[in-house]
Amino acid sequence: MGDTALQTRPGREKPASSGGRGGKTGATAAWLVCASGKGGTTKTTTCAHLAAIAASQGMAPLLVDTDPQQSLTEWIANRRKLRAAGTDVRDLRHIYAPLAEADRAVREADVVEGVDLVIVDTPPGMDNRVQLRLLLERADLVIVPTTQSPPDTKSVLEMMAIATQLRRKAAFLIGKALPRWNSYRHAKKLLNRYGTLCPVDVRMLRDVERCYDYGLGINEAGDASGGEDFEGVWHFVRRELGC
Ligand SMILES: Nc1ncnc2c1ncn2[C@@H]1O[C@H](COP(=O)(O)OP(=O)(O)O)[C@@H](O)[C@H]1O
Ligand SMILES: [Mg+2]
Repeated sequence: MGDTALQTRPGREKPASSGGRGGKTGATAAWLVCASGKGGTTKTTTCAHLAAIAASQGMAPLLVDTDPQQSLTEWIANRRKLRAAGTDVRDLRHIYAPLAEADRAVREADVVEGVDLVIVDTPPGMDNRVQLRLLLERADLVIVPTTQSPPDTKSVLEMMAIATQLRRKAAFLIGKALPRWNSYRHAKKLLNRYGTLCPVDVRMLRDVERCYDYGLGINEAGDASGGEDFEGVWHFVRRELGC
């Protein structure tokens, strides 16, 4: 995609009801929670791109942003600006409630109709464990994103331990992967010891960051690199969720 203007992919979307579990509410939908306890580990990026891919495949996702920094909410706002300017991107539904009010987020999400997948983004930090636990307990799958940097991989192990203790299905995901670096190999070795590792990584790619900044899903920019990475992650997530 490079530095040229973003080109959106035309005519790619199915109607929202064609592949999903129509007639569901948030209460009966599958819940995917992205949590790592550490900032900069690609939680928000993962939520955004997976939601855009899910929607393009006919599912009806609901995004729940529990990070007071509201990066995911900002992504949604940027999407709405794109739509207002005539760009053909799906309007994704969304709820914001800070982690401290996760119980409210869950109550609100539960009553949203026509949802087959709830995708929850969480803030960095492990301070609010009661509310975090509430979200994790709700998860059908916890994705624990991390970069390959040693401080990140070490710090996300705790989230996997909590998810495992709560008997949640969980998997690490390496984002911003640089497979030629030694740290990549070390990260895989360490993460594999502590839990399931998503078999597909998301490479460090400028287009991933750029699409995100514009409010686009990686699958919505015609010439963006990284689409296949998130598609691969999405296949894994979908299989694990059984949806
Ligand atoms: N695969 C990637 N390639 C390049 N940059 C990425 C990639 N994934 C995320 N980023 C960038 O890394 C930064 C941190 O990602 P973000 O999703 O905000 O992390 P978190 O939500 O865990 O704090 C953002 O600037 C984002 O655009
Ligand atoms: Mg974030």
